[in-house]
Amino acid sequence: MHGPLKIFAGRSHKKLAERICHILDVHLGDSEVVKFSNENLMVKINENVRGCDVYVFQTSAPPVHEGIIELLITIDALKHASAGRITAVVPYFPYVRSDKKDKPRISITARLMADLLETAGADRVVTMDLHSPQIAGFFRIPVDHLQAVPIIADHLQQADLTNRVLVAGDAGEAKEVGRYANRLHLPMAIIDKRRYGDDEKPKPAHVIGDVDGKHCIIVDDEVSTGRTLIEAANFLKEKGALSITAAFTHPVLAGEAVARLQKSVIEQFVFCDTIPLQGKQSEKFRVLSVSELFAKAIRRIHDGDSISQLFR
Ligand code: R5P
Repeated sequence: MHGPLKIFAGRSHKKLAERICHILDVHLGDSEVVKFSNENLMVKINENVRGCDVYVFQTSAPPVHEGIIELLITIDALKHASAGRITAVVPYFPYVRSDKKDKPRISITARLMADLLETAGADRVVTMDLHSPQIAGFFRIPVDHLQAVPIIADHLQQADLTNRVLVAGDAGEAKEVGRYANRLHLPMAIIDKRRYGDDEKPKPAHVIGDVDGKHCIIVDDEVSTGRTLIEAANFLKEKGALSITAAFTHPVLAGEAVARLQKSVIEQFVFCDTIPLQGKQSEKFRVLSVSELFAKAIRRIHDGDSISQLFR
């Protein structure tokens, strides 16, 4: 049995951490971060955590690297303060796209992140929609890999789903999109991407499935620059799609992404609050909160209950 449940949060997304605490009816743990003149950080835990079941909340959001080190230092501080068990709650996992050695002499940085969390003293990790589910295997500690599919699918279900088709932007996304298709009882299509030159990025070449005269919902795990999504949407339009909605989990929305998405052919963007929007807004955006799901997961982990039941 674990001690009392406590939640601490880094500075990346305090609002989401507070919402989770509110749902769980626990106060957000008292901690502070000090940045010294040499840019080194110090995290101080201002309450007793001896023997407690502690959850440390930090998502990957700008400034990403400061967020990572803040999370590691917080875990280390909790460890040395004799916390009983420490769970890192990381809705959007840092370096999640660096999950394979697909070029010579590069780092598999997602694996390094896993090692760092373990070294700092994390006993387990809760995260959401990893770019590839195999990343959970980079850890030797338990990982609860939550899915946004029930949240996003419930929202999509509120609209008329007649003549809709779910679309995977490439073959790699097909499995994830299949989860949506199963829940929503909708057909799916897959964009077949081809690389025409050695140095070129793969481009949409064909679509497997029927999109002509259909309302398409493109599903992806994250949107960063928005270019992948817009390229897929334009391609689907060329193939006769009537309208395009985009549904994704993590709104990285880097640089000029919001302006780019705003003027794209895509009519609506449905995504989760795993990353703070920091003022990025568009009337095309529909933001869904993962707070309820994370709160339930934390409650179940604390009580020793099943997490998979949340996704039945
Ligand atoms: C890639 O494999 C991911 O699933 C997303 O499609 C990608 O991260 C989107 O990146 P961007 O928005 O920069 O095109």
